[in-house]
Amino acid sequence: MSEPFDIDEIRSQFPALSRAEGPHPAAYLDGPGGTQTPSSVIEAMTAPLRDGISNLGGGYGPSDDAVRITAEARDAVARFINASPDEIAFGQNMTSLTFAVSRALARTWSVGDNIVLTSLDHDANFAPWATAAQETGVEVRVAEFDTETFRLAPESVIGLIDDNTRLVAVCLSSNALGTVVDVKPISEAARRAGALAYVDAVHAGPHHRIDVAEMGCHFLAASAYKFFGPHTGILWGQLDQLATLEAYKVRPAPSDPPGKWETGTQSFESLAGVTAAIEHIESVGWGAIQEHETALGERFLAGIEGMDHVRLWGVPEMNENRVATFAISVDGLHPDRVATTLRERGLYVWSGHYYAVNVMDRLGLMESGGLVRIGFVHYNTADEVDRVLDVLQELRA
Ligand SMILES: Cc1ncc(COP(=O)(O)O)c(C=O)c1O
Repeated sequence: MSEPFDIDEIRSQFPALSRAEGPHPAAYLDGPGGTQTPSSVIEAMTAPLRDGISNLGGGYGPSDDAVRITAEARDAVARFINASPDEIAFGQNMTSLTFAVSRALARTWSVGDNIVLTSLDHDANFAPWATAAQETGVEVRVAEFDTETFRLAPESVIGLIDDNTRLVAVCLSSNALGTVVDVKPISEAARRAGALAYVDAVHAGPHHRIDVAEMGCHFLAASAYKFFGPHTGILWGQLDQLATLEAYKVRPAPSDPPGKWETGTQSFESLAGVTAAIEHIESVGWGAIQEHETALGERFLAGIEGMDHVRLWGVPEMNENRVATFAISVDGLHPDRVATTLRERGLYVWSGHYYAVNVMDRLGLMESGGLVRIGFVHYNTADEVDRVLDVLQELRA
């Protein structure tokens, strides 16, 4: 496999990749659940803890550092998703931020309104909205993904939007199946109906460029630990939305965005890590990352094509409709058993529903233990793909 970058050099930046599982080198194929961090992120996070850090607004050195770190993180995320720094808020994780926005938005809903969700989404972009709708007597409409193509046709979402729709929540890509959603027409339809579009970009983070201006959404949430950074959530909102919507906040906290959406004190060391993670991606480049991931995905798909005991639940080729996250089942074996066998060889994968409970429900797989998920990011190698394929081959009943 010809590489768009020096893969050994990339891997040397990630200390965790040198871990071993007994005699087997560890292969982190669990990127969809969380990625590893390069040394630059570790150093960026350690520095404020080592050198001194204080809370915002003290007017002395370590406090000024916290101000600078926060501003740099907003700048970095703004570059990362093509937005403005004053539209970027941080929080504990995507789930917490989404609950916060859902509660705030629900205060503007009333009986007779509806919201549109999808069965492709992680529960973090479903339950907060469904709960808020239940509390306000608002109708929940669910757009279903196609169980043959594993895609979510924009029309299936758009067809549910009407003049009473207040919110459309959709993922940019599925953490279970790897499906990429064409969000732009969905946002446009939401706008035409006077509804707001909220996009979950958590799974997209490490795989491809995110552009909120191009997508035309009103809100977007992401999580830095999915793109080589620390465990910190990111919320982007269109400035007028963040400004006019009432946030749940303590009285002395800022009344303007983005600060009004940030509860309590942020993890400044994590914010330093967010900046470093984005700089890492910028240093490698999206073109190279995508080229590498596509090659790994194609190798994996070609490998399982010849295995009639392995079934892929997802788009069967590497194209704009998927990223290199694969959900599979092996005939006659429980997903946990497959995952355990892979893990015993140092191949870190997941089995189950990974909180994509609607996906597993829709595929009728909830009772049978969900699926095995194998995900590739830019630090994975062709050799790791081959190691997975070898084990899958052995698992033929
Ligand atoms: C697609 C997707 N959305 C949302 C989440 C929740 O993110 P967080 O852990 O930051 O709350 C995840 C986590 O796995 C995810 O994969």
